[in-house]
Amino acid sequence: FLVGGAAAGAVAVAGAGGAWAGRATSPGTGAAPSGTGETSLHGDLRVPFHGPRQAGVETPPQAYLTLVALTLAPGADRDALVRLMRIWTDDVARLTQGRPGLTDTEPELAEVPARLTVTVGYGPAVFTAAGLDDRRPSWLRPLPPFGVDRLEDRWNDGDLVLQVCADDEVTVSHAVRMLLREARDFASVRWLQKGFRRSVGSEPAGRTMRNLMGQVDGTRNVDPVADAPLVWSDGTDGWLAGGTSMVVRRIRMELDTWDEVDRSTREAVMGRRLVDGAPLTGDTEHDEPDLDAVGPHGLTVIGPAAHVRRARTDDQAERFLRRAYSYDVAPDVAADPSVLSSSGLVFVTFQADVDRQFVPVQRRLDEVDLLNEWTTPIGSAVFAVPPGCAEGEFLGQALLG
Ligand code: HEM
Repeated sequence: FLVGGAAAGAVAVAGAGGAWAGRATSPGTGAAPSGTGETSLHGDLRVPFHGPRQAGVETPPQAYLTLVALTLAPGADRDALVRLMRIWTDDVARLTQGRPGLTDTEPELAEVPARLTVTVGYGPAVFTAAGLDDRRPSWLRPLPPFGVDRLEDRWNDGDLVLQVCADDEVTVSHAVRMLLREARDFASVRWLQKGFRRSVGSEPAGRTMRNLMGQVDGTRNVDPVADAPLVWSDGTDGWLAGGTSMVVRRIRMELDTWDEVDRSTREAVMGRRLVDGAPLTGDTEHDEPDLDAVGPHGLTVIGPAAHVRRARTDDQAERFLRRAYSYDVAPDVAADPSVLSSSGLVFVTFQADVDRQFVPVQRRLDEVDLLNEWTTPIGSAVFAVPPGCAEGEFLGQALLG
């Protein structure tokens, strides 16, 4: 997944930059010049499309995200799905490399790939529609209910998903419109969620993101390269070898009440310092938290209900890749004129097995986590992400072909 053959004037970028989430890699993007040396425009950077795994998982997170879930049209069958996948594969192969789709009505908008990636996923209905229920992974179903959930159906589930990410929002918007237009005969939009991180160039490359609570978020994450078996299916599920699963949780932050909390309480809730994300028992962000350290009053420095204590696991096989984005949308002032904001995380995770990895951690947080006081899951969806494809193949071919 490293540098592909670069077209003149374009720059290919690495699919993964090693420990992308926290530690500094090459300029923040996993970017590597193609050797042409003809451009320094960020908008020219391209993530290779063809390969054994879909891009957009191990790709160092881009600045913008649009996630769209779709509902299959009545009567859509395996043939229809193959047609749609062929069309989408062709479009994504072009758009990610800075070329317009075949039926692109705004081809100029495709000229700035800006590390565009499109990751396609399947909900359970794809398997039913294709008559392939026997090949549905056992974990591909809605997550079990959790006590903290206040799910709104408008953010739940979906038959297909497109995760579209790029460092330029015009690029994302164009790609989404193009792909939805092509899908019009096959599926309709169920929900759409947008997210953002810092703009490219706003801060030093490779810095861990801050969420809208101000916390350094993503420090202790899975490295999608070094920990590949945690992220990618090993093929036990046959067609899914080289694929993964995507969990999407829309988690509202109760920022208006969080504002009332003093700084030391905020740090105790997390178990980490706000200024630099260091554990309360350490000096720098990547220091290992010492969960046994005891303070002057005989209490553990990182409290029993702190988020990092509850979220971490001794079972290494329970870890997963977090690839979250912030959201900030218009508050519903018609319902409550006093509300200032509607913000949170589009919490996207990738793991080889949802039941084995994601569910136990979410269950633990559901039981006890101080952070629950200020965060509320309002949407939930699970998708199977098929492997990538070689030139001449289409996405999902191992399942549908
Ligand atoms: C760690 C924030 C929800 C799993 C962290 C950290 C922050 C954070 C600031 C510490 C830095 C880091 O290691 O990344 C949040 C916020 C959430 C949220 C604001 C909701 C809005 C969740 C959920 C899960 C989760 C729903 C899992 C189902 C984890 C894990 C860690 C972590 C596994 C790393 C723990 C460790 O190994 O030290 N989170 N989180 N978080 N969070 Fe969350």
